[in-house]
Amino acid sequence: MITVDERDKVFHLSNGRISYLFYVMDTEQLGHLYFGKALDKRGKYLHMVEKAYRPMTTCIREGDLCTSYEHLRQEYPCYGTSDYRYPALEVQGEDGSSISSLKYQGYEMIKGKRHLAGLPATYTEEDDEAATVEIMMKDTWRNLEVVLSYTIFRDVDAIARSVRFVNRGGGVLFLDRAMSMSVDMPDADYQSVQLSGAWSRERSVKVRDLETGITSVSSMRGHSSHHHNPFFALKRKNTTERSGEVYGFSLVYSGNFLAQAEVDNYQVLRVMLGINPFGFRWKLGPQDSFTTPEAVMVFSAQGLNGMSRQFHRLYRKRLARGYWRDRERPVLINNWEATQFDFDENDLLRFARKAKECGIEMFVLDDGWFGERNDDKKGLGDWKANRDKLPDGIEGLAEKIEALGMKFGLWFEPEMVNMDSDFFRDHPDYIIRTPGRDASHGRNQYVLDFSRKEVVDAVYGQMYELLSKAKISYIKWDMNRSISECYSAAYPADQQGEIFHRYMLGVYDLHERLLQAFPELLIESCSSGGGRFDAGMLYYAPQGWTSDDSDAIERLKIQYGTSFSYPLSCMGAHVSACPNEQVGRRTPIETRGNVACTGAFGYEHDLDQLSDEEIEIVKKQVAFYKENRRFIAEGDFYRLLSPFEGNFGAWEVAAEDGSRAMATVTRILSEVNGPYRRLPLCGLRKDQEYHIAGRYNSYDAYGDELMQYGLILEDRSSGSVTEGNGRCEDFLSVVYEIKAKF
Ligand code: GLA
Repeated sequence: MITVDERDKVFHLSNGRISYLFYVMDTEQLGHLYFGKALDKRGKYLHMVEKAYRPMTTCIREGDLCTSYEHLRQEYPCYGTSDYRYPALEVQGEDGSSISSLKYQGYEMIKGKRHLAGLPATYTEEDDEAATVEIMMKDTWRNLEVVLSYTIFRDVDAIARSVRFVNRGGGVLFLDRAMSMSVDMPDADYQSVQLSGAWSRERSVKVRDLETGITSVSSMRGHSSHHHNPFFALKRKNTTERSGEVYGFSLVYSGNFLAQAEVDNYQVLRVMLGINPFGFRWKLGPQDSFTTPEAVMVFSAQGLNGMSRQFHRLYRKRLARGYWRDRERPVLINNWEATQFDFDENDLLRFARKAKECGIEMFVLDDGWFGERNDDKKGLGDWKANRDKLPDGIEGLAEKIEALGMKFGLWFEPEMVNMDSDFFRDHPDYIIRTPGRDASHGRNQYVLDFSRKEVVDAVYGQMYELLSKAKISYIKWDMNRSISECYSAAYPADQQGEIFHRYMLGVYDLHERLLQAFPELLIESCSSGGGRFDAGMLYYAPQGWTSDDSDAIERLKIQYGTSFSYPLSCMGAHVSACPNEQVGRRTPIETRGNVACTGAFGYEHDLDQLSDEEIEIVKKQVAFYKENRRFIAEGDFYRLLSPFEGNFGAWEVAAEDGSRAMATVTRILSEVNGPYRRLPLCGLRKDQEYHIAGRYNSYDAYGDELMQYGLILEDRSSGSVTEGNGRCEDFLSVVYEIKAKF
C-alpha cells in the first residue's frame, strides 16, 4: 500500500480508493503533493509541485527566487526559515531561539501499525490490514529527531498520523507546539464543518465558508469539551450528505486540542490538528522523547455520510477494543434522572425488579452511593458505600441485583474530589491548583492532579478494592468540571506546561490499569453528558453518555451531530421520563424509544411511574432492541434529513450487504394537511425486492425505487387530519423496517 520512488523521493500511500502523496524537496524538507481520490501508481508526480517567483518573498538560498517555504506546500512545517504561516512545530532551545528547520534523514516501512505507548490509538490485528511509513527528519542544528508516522488502512479510507520527537543533543529543548498532523492543500474552496455546542446541546453541526485567514475550533478546558469536538471536516460547497468530496479530521485525544484551517493569501489551505499549543510546553532533556496523540484523516467522494462511514468502521473495529468491542451491549436502566441523590436500597431493588420484568439486563447505580454524598457538596473521592443508604454495601447490592438475573453497574467520578471528603482531608495537596491563588470550583468539586502517579495510584487502589469484591460489570466514568488554575505541586516551574497533557496520560493510565485488571469491565465514559465524547475515550470506553439532555427531540440533533465522527455503538441513548427533566417537553414514549434505540440503549426512568399500557410498550422496545442491536451497531449509518434544517430528523441503518435496513423518521411539529412525502433511502441493492413495514402500513418495493423514488412516509396529516387509526400530534416518529424478500 506504500510505494517509494527512490529517485524522486516520492512516497505514495494508496489503498486503491484514496491516495496520499508527499516528497522530499531539494531543500530536504518534506513537501505535500496530494490527498484525495486514488491516483494510479504511475510513478511521476513532481510536476504537481507549484512553484513561482513572487516579489517580497523570503527565499531559502541566494540566486534562487522561487524556493520559499512560504509558497511550497509542506507536510510538517516549521517557523523562522521563510514560512510565515502557523507552523506544526515550535521548539525552543536554551539559547532562546524558536526557529527550526527539518531535514529528511530516511524512512522505515512497517507492516501494520505501531502501538503508541500510553496513548489511545487505532490498531491493526493482522499485519496486512495497514501499512506504515515512518519518515525520519532532523533539525541538525538542534539535534532534534522528528519521526513522522503515516499509516494507511486497507479497508478504510483513512490515514493515521502521529509524530515522535527525540532530543539527541546534550541540552534542554522545549516543545511549544507539536501538532499531530499538518497538510497543505492546493486550494481553499471549502466549507468547514465543526461540532460545537455547550452542556446539554453538544455537537451541533456548524458550517462556515473558509476565508483568507484562520478558521479554528479548540479546547483549553482540560477535556475535549462540550463546546467544540476534536473533529472537523472540509467539504466542497456542493457536497451534501449523499454526494461530493469531503475530508474529515479527527484527533484521538481527550484533552486540550486545536483544529485549525489557515487559508493563505495564495489560497493554499493549511490544515492542522493536535494538542492545543496554548498552555503547552514540554521539556525534552537529553535523550527524552515525546509522542503526539494520533490524528486520523479521512477522504470521501460520497458526501458527509461517506466520510462518517469511514470513521464509524475504523473507530468501531480498530479503535474501540477489548471484550465489549464486538459484543452486544446490555440494555440498562440508570437511576439518576429518577432519584438523583435520594434513594435507598429498597428503592433501587424495586427499580431493578420492574426493569427485569421489562427485559432490561443491567441496573446502573448512579451518583450518591458513597461517602457522605447526599448532594453535590460532599463525598466525592470517598469510594466506599454509604451504609445508611446501602446497609449491605455495594457488594450486597450487587449480589441482590445479580440474584434477580441482572448485571450491576456503578457510577464513579475518579478524577474529582469535594473538599468535604475524607480523601481530600487526607490528601489536601492532591488537587490541581496554583499555589497562592484561589482555587475555582465546578459543581463544588476540584480536580485531582492525575499528572502525579501517586494520585492515580490512590484512586486506583480504592476502585480496585471495590471492583474486586463486588460483582460490578460496568462503570459509568464521569468527569463533571473543566480544569482551572492548572498547576502541579509535584513538577518544577519549567514543566508546568506539561500538566494538562500529563493529566490526560494519568487518566488514560487509570483506564488501562482497570481494564488490565478487569478485562470484562464495560466502561461508559461521561462528562456532564458529552463533555469528553471523543475518539480518545473510545479506546477505553466503547460507549459514552452522549448528553445529559435526554429529550428525544433534542437528541435528534445531538445524535445527528455526534454521528459525523462517532458510530452508533458508542452513543449512550436512554428513554427518560416526561415531562423531560431538561426541557420540560412531553414526547410520545414510542418516539423516545425510536430515537434512543439507534444508540447504546437504556432507560433513565422510574418505570413504576408508567401505566400498564406504557410498560407493554417498554417491553416491546426492549425486545425490539435486543433483536436488532447487532444490526444497529454494525450496520452502515446514513443521515437522511437534518433536524438542523427542517421539521424532520431522519436516519437509516443498512446492513453492509444491503439485505435489510431500518429508517427512523421523526416529524418534530405536527402540521395540518401537509404534502405527500417520500424519503430516498441509501445502501440497498437496486434489483432486490424488499418488504417495508412501517407503523401503520406495509408494502413491497425494489431497492432502486426506494433509493430513487423514495420510501413513502406515513404521515398522518397528509391529506386528512383524521384519516386512519394514527394520531396527529407533535413529535411523532416511525421506524420503518426494510427487509429483502426471498
Ligand atoms: C453528570 C452526568 C449525569 C449524572 C450526574 C451525577 O451530570 O452526566 O448523567 O451521572 O453527573 O451527578
